[in-house]
Amino acid sequence: MTTLRQLFLANNAQTTNFPLLLEFERAEGIYMYNAEGKPYIDLISGIGVSSLGHNNPHVIDAIKQQVDKYMHLMVYGEYVQTPQVRFAEKLVSVLPDSLQSVYFTNSGAEAVEGALKLAKRFTGRSQVIAFHNSYHGSTHGALSVMGNEEFKQAYRPLLPGVSFIHFNDPDHLQFITEETACVIMETVQGEAGVRVPDVAYMQALRARCTETGTLLILDEIQAAFGRTGKLFAFEHFGIVPDILLLAKALGGGMPIGAFISSNQIMDALKENPILGHITTFGGHPVCCAAGLAALEFLLEANLVAGVAEKEALLRSLLVHPAIKQVRGKGLMLAAELEDFDLNKKIIDRCIENGVITDWFLHCSNSMRLAPPLIITPDEISKACAVIVEAVDYYTK
Ligand SMILES: Cc1ncc(COP(=O)(O)O)c(C=O)c1O
Repeated sequence: MTTLRQLFLANNAQTTNFPLLLEFERAEGIYMYNAEGKPYIDLISGIGVSSLGHNNPHVIDAIKQQVDKYMHLMVYGEYVQTPQVRFAEKLVSVLPDSLQSVYFTNSGAEAVEGALKLAKRFTGRSQVIAFHNSYHGSTHGALSVMGNEEFKQAYRPLLPGVSFIHFNDPDHLQFITEETACVIMETVQGEAGVRVPDVAYMQALRARCTETGTLLILDEIQAAFGRTGKLFAFEHFGIVPDILLLAKALGGGMPIGAFISSNQIMDALKENPILGHITTFGGHPVCCAAGLAALEFLLEANLVAGVAEKEALLRSLLVHPAIKQVRGKGLMLAAELEDFDLNKKIIDRCIENGVITDWFLHCSNSMRLAPPLIITPDEISKACAVIVEAVDYYTK
C-alpha cells in the first residue's frame, strides 16, 4: 500500500531533498500528536504562527460561526464585510493613532509587496533600503529586499534600486537620503538568528527617516502579538513606524497578513491609477473572524504579561558549556551552538525525544526557541531538559 509519506514525496512539490517528514494527526495547545498518539512539544509555533497554541477553542468557535454565515463574497475592498471591519477596528484600537488604516492580505509576503508599492506611490521615489541578513518572504519583491545573496541570486534580475545596510550600525544611517522611498526592517531580525537592535539605534533610524521624508516600514510578521514581550516589538524602542507589517500569528492559525499605515499614506492607493493593490482573498472573512478571536483571547488572557518571566526561565535552564549564547527577546530566542552539524544532530535528537525545534534560514548554528505564549513553566522545564540532554549527549 502506498503510504502517505510516499504520496507526499510523489505529488506534493518538494523544495528540499531532506524534508522533515514528520506526520501529525492532531494538535492541541503546545502539543502536536502523531498517529500513535505520541505528543511533541511545538517549540517553534509553526514558525511564529501558533502563539496561542494549536486549536484555541475561542478561535475555532469564531471560524465555525463565520463559515455558517459566509465565506468569500467579493475581492478585497468593495463590500462592507463585518469580520474585516471588526478586526481592523480591534487592531487599530491597540495601535498608535497614526496606524489607523489596515489593508488585509493573504500572507506576509503579500503585505511586504503592498507596503513597498505604497511607499513608492506615497513618496514618488523608487529607492529602497533593506538590511543584511533580513528575511521578508519569498515573492519577487520580498526576495529583492532579502539580505542574503545565496537565496536570491538564482532569481535575478530582481527589483532595481534596492541597497543594503548593516543592522544596528548607526554609521550606515547616512545612506538613507531624500531619494529613499522607504527603509524596510524587521524590528527584531528573525531568520538572521534573532537579532535585537539597540534603542538608541532605532530612535536614530526613526529620526533619519523623518528627516529625509523616508517611510519606515517595520516588519513584525514574526515579532508581533506578544512574541517579544510587548504586544508589538516597536514598543520596546519608543518609536512608531510609518507602515507596520503583520502576518503569521495575526490569523490565530489561519492565513492572513496586513500592512497598516495612516489614512494619509494609504490614500495613495486610491488614485492615479485607482486600485493600487488588488487581492482576491486578502482579508478572507473566515481568517478575519479567526484573527479577531485570537487577538481578543491574547488580550483577555493577558498572555503578553507572562512572556518576560518565561524568557527568564528558559534562559536560566538553557545553561551548558556548549550553548555559547541565548539571544533574543521574550519568547523569540536563539540558542547558539558551535556549528550547523552539531545543531542539526541536537535538533534531531530533541525531535526524537518529543521536542520540535529547528534552525534559522540565515543562521544555521543556532536553535529556534519560539514556543506558544501559553507554554507553562513546567512545560518549559520539560522542553529545556530534553534540549540540555541532547546538547550533553553530543558534546560530553
Ligand atoms: C519577518 C518575516 N517577514 C515576512 C515573512 C513572509 O511571510 P509569509 O511566509 O507569510 O509570506 C516571514 C516569514 O517567515 C518573516 O519571518
